[in-house]
Order: sequence, then C-alpha cells, then structure tokens
Amino acid sequence: MMKRTHDCGELRESHSGDTVVLAGWVNNFRDQGKGLAFIDLRDRGGITQVVFNLEDCDEQTVENAHSLRREDVVAIKGVVQPRQGKANEKLATGGIEVIGQTVEVLNRTDNPPILPDEHDGEKISEEVRLKYRYIDLRRPRMQEILRIRHLVARITREYFDEHGFLEIETPLLIKSTPEGARDFIVPSRIYPGEWYALPQSPQIFKQILMVAGCDRYLQICKCLRDEDPRADRQAEFTQIDLEMSFVERDDILDLMEGFMRAVFKKVVDVDLGDIPRMPWSEAMERFGSDRPDLRFDLELQDVSELAARTEFRVFTEALAKEDGVVKAIRVPGAAESFSRKVTDGYNEVARTHGAGGLPTVKYTANGFETGIAKFLDGIGEELVSLLGLQPGDAVLFTADTRDIANTALGAVRLAAAADLDLIPEGRHDALWVVDFPMFKWDEDGKRWASEHHPFTAPRADQLEILESNPGKCLSDGYDFVVNGSEAGGGSIRIHDPNVQKTVFSLLNLSEEEAKSKFGFLLDALRYGAPPHGGIAFGLDRLVMLLAGTDNIRDVIAFPKTQNGGDLMSQAPGPVDMAQLEELQLSIVEQPDSD
Ligand code: AMO
Repeated sequence: MMKRTHDCGELRESHSGDTVVLAGWVNNFRDQGKGLAFIDLRDRGGITQVVFNLEDCDEQTVENAHSLRREDVVAIKGVVQPRQGKANEKLATGGIEVIGQTVEVLNRTDNPPILPDEHDGEKISEEVRLKYRYIDLRRPRMQEILRIRHLVARITREYFDEHGFLEIETPLLIKSTPEGARDFIVPSRIYPGEWYALPQSPQIFKQILMVAGCDRYLQICKCLRDEDPRADRQAEFTQIDLEMSFVERDDILDLMEGFMRAVFKKVVDVDLGDIPRMPWSEAMERFGSDRPDLRFDLELQDVSELAARTEFRVFTEALAKEDGVVKAIRVPGAAESFSRKVTDGYNEVARTHGAGGLPTVKYTANGFETGIAKFLDGIGEELVSLLGLQPGDAVLFTADTRDIANTALGAVRLAAAADLDLIPEGRHDALWVVDFPMFKWDEDGKRWASEHHPFTAPRADQLEILESNPGKCLSDGYDFVVNGSEAGGGSIRIHDPNVQKTVFSLLNLSEEEAKSKFGFLLDALRYGAPPHGGIAFGLDRLVMLLAGTDNIRDVIAFPKTQNGGDLMSQAPGPVDMAQLEELQLSIVEQPDSD
C-alpha cells in the first residue's frame, strides 16, 4: 500500500508542485468520457478533487480511475496544482486539485445501501442510518460531532487535572444505586440466583472515595438506566462525574462554572458570562419549569388578584383551591397568528400537563376580543398594565393549583416560543437552579420521594425542619441548565450517618432495607466521612447543545433506538441454552395476555 502523505482536507495552493499520496473513500466521481476522470476523495480530514488524464498518466491508470464507484477505498499518488477552472468555495481544499499519477484500489465496496453525502444523510431514515452506522458515521457532520465529543472529553481532563482532580474508575458490576430508574441486572454464575446491578451512576462509590481521602475525583463514565429512551435520553449514556471534599455549595458551583465557560468558549467560541443562580421556586413561578429556557421572555405572571374579581368560573374555582393561582403569559404580536387551530394545540399541551384548559384572549386596538374577553370587563385596564399589553398581543392563562398552573403554562410557553421562532439561533443561556425542595410527594406510593437522590443534604439552615416539615425543607442540590436542558445535577451530600438514617426513614425505607441496600455507605459514613459534594454533567446532552442537535442519537457513535435496540449489532438477542443453564436460569413463558 502506498504510504499516505496528507489527509484529504490538508492541501492548499502552497503545496503546488508537491507529489502527494492521499487515501480514502470515493465520495463522488465524474466521468468526462475517455481519457479524463474526476474523483472526489474523502477521509476524516475533508475532500480533495483528483483529476486523471492521459497527459499525466497511462491509459491503464485512467481506466482504473474510470472503474471507481462511490465508497470504493483507494490510495492515489499525484501532484498538487492550483485548480484549473473555478475554485470550489465550499471546500477547504477548493483552491487546488491533485493530478493523479497512480491509483491503488485498496477495497471495492458492494453497492452501498446509503451514501455519506450530507444531503443524503438528512433524507434517509434513521433506522437505515443506524443499521449501516459505519457508513453513516463517514458523513462529515457525524465526524464533526465525534470531534466535538472528543474535544469536550479532552477539555474536561485538562481542566480538572489543573484543579487537582484524580481520574478514578469505579466498578460496573455493583449493588444497585438509586437514581430513580429501573436497574439493568446481570446474573452471577458463581452465586446462582444472585445478581449484580449495572450502575445508574457511580454515586455511592464517589462518595466512598471521599471517605477514602481521595479529595477530588473525576470520571467520564457510562451510566445505565433501564428506562425508555427519548429525544434527550438513552438507557446507556455518559456522565462527567465529579466529587470534592471539604467544600460548600458555592465552591463547587464556582469551579464548575469555570469548567462550563471553558467548554463553551473552546468548542463553540461562546462566552457564557456570569451564570445566574435561581431558586427553584423562582424558576417555577417565572418560567413554569425547573429547567427554564432563558433564551426568550414569555414569562409567567401571577394575575390571581385580578382574576379573583372576575365572574369567570374557571378562575374563581381555581382560586378557591388550596394554593390556587391564575397565571398568564403575554405573547407579543400573536393575536393574528393564533388561529383556533393553534390555540387548540396549546390547549392540548396544557391538558397533558394536568390543566383543565387554557383560556385565551386577544388584545386589539378595540380592547379585548374573542375567548374570555367578556369576563375581563372590570379588570381590563389593570390587566393591560400588569402584563404590559400592546394591541396585537395574545394572552394565555392557566388556573389551578400553583404546581399545575405553572407547569402547564411553562409547557405552553415552550411550544409558543418554538412556533413563533422566538429562540435566537446560536444563542446559549446557562443558569444554576438551586434551593430545590428535598422531597416531592409521591401520591401513588403515599410517601416522600427524593427530588435529587437520597444522599442529597438538606441546606444547613433547613436541618431543623427536615423531620417536622419535610415538604417545606430545601436541599443543597443544584442543576446546571443550558437552553432549557438539564445538562448537569448534583448536591452537597449528607455526611452525618444520623441525618442519612432520618432521610431514609422519611423515604419510607426501613432500617433493614437501608442496611441491605446501602449498608456499606452507612458504614463508611461512620468512619471519618469529610463534608463533601459533587455533580454529574450529562456528556451526551452537553455535546447535543454544542453540536446544535436535539437528537441524542446523533452524538453517540453507536446509540440505541427508541425501543432500546442496536440495529447494527441486533442487540438485544437470544443467548445459548447452555449459557442459561450455567447460570441456572430458564425462560418462563408469559401466559397469553388475552
Ligand atoms: P442525574 O440523575 O441528575 O444525577 O444525572 C446527571 C446528568 O446526567 C444526564 N442524564 C442523562 N443523559 C442522557 N440520558 C439519560 N437517561 C440521562 N439521565 C441523566 C443529565 C443529568 O443532569 N449521581 C447524580 C449526580 C450527582 O449527584 O453528583 C446523578 O446521576 O444531563
């Protein structure tokens, strides 16, 4: 095989006259009749045009070049010259071409089921792309995303190395960790009937590393959660996982902010600037979400006082409920574009988030019109001034308990912003959401559940109400949010075994259960646990934000489909009976469900 001298994105006019060898895939060919052939050769670096003609090589070589088809693998030797004819502005190598002298066919391809052309990549179905992932990944866009992912990993290691973190691996075959999802479990051959769990995160191990005196820990690790994949969720995903000793919340947030600023600056040249820290309750009140998208306004306003003075039953009945509120958003200039069909769509969004409906009204030069206009007579002027309405605006309302009214209108806020194109291209807005509640009430299980995870500490000033008023107790947890996506989450941990026991008991975990599940952590906490805390960033989610895609499968080389399958390798699949016998396992047929 001829030895490659450059990659296909490297050559410029300054290389003119050099003899070079390139190797790669035939991206395209143009057959200009006998004696002349153009080949676009592609590798990870880019694309270079190669010309074969009878003046510069023998007939056989031109013949060979003529025989090449898209995605054949070749090495080509030739001489660089300024491109004859018009330069191709779209290519980094567009100012030159290589005059081919020799072509060595390294491998022919079968007729490719898909082509890695950018254009074709967008058109073909994702199933086909995933089945032939090795061809799909040849697309320049996919190569670019892989490069971004690598860059983030590299910046991560550099940044945390500079700040004294050690990269330490934790095991994959473990006892269950509680991150709220179902475990993937692995049968033990040596202990038949017993099981390992795959880690939902290294949470307990990183805390134990702090007890072990490791001080600052980093790991870029796989986490496995048996839950249904979504656009931003995979069962198998990667975290940038961190833990620190002898720190308080703001020490962690300051250091992590520096990290995020470095990543965004180095990868997409965006300065994240000062990153605000917003209490959870404020995020819910103003944006109806614990991961607010700050790239656009449409803030939620509390109009309860005015609503109480109307005769509109939806408002008055909601306000009669405990913690009932009426919330509104002003949608500037939307009066015309909000057809019945559009508002029906938002109504549906509000309903799926628990609201009874989504009253609407338009504000025009003649005052309020359509929707609930007739109920607003007595409060019209005050509503105009409270919401800052301008003629041409639309107003959307939710009326319910605070939680539902906020969440439902928050979801409508996102839908309206997307429809009205209110999200500026290329903009990134980050914030910390802090002061989360420790617990949320699980109505089905009739018990408290952790808002983060059971090892999250209450804020120091909240310890006294932990037991007496758990619903009001705030935690020392935090989420890092970019563009409405939860890119990271963490907390100061409980390092006092008694507080940990109290939290387990509030979560309705009996002492025996706590002991059997997390006994080793409770033990470790008794043998000199330093105050500690940490965070995990979702690497896939960060790369999605940096690469500008809303499909998590785009940022993972070999992702799973929505149904959890790997279309290329056909996993999951059956195993040999002998393997099952060795594990003392058998498949129990499900009785017919009908
Ligand atoms: P948490 O469960 O919030 O915290 O996860 C941390 C971050 O990981 C990302 N993430 C996911 N990304 C893709 N697919 C998923 N299924 C998925 N689940 C989570 C998110 C999230 O913010 N041990 C704690 C961290 C800590 O307390 O230090 C934990 O795992 O970006």
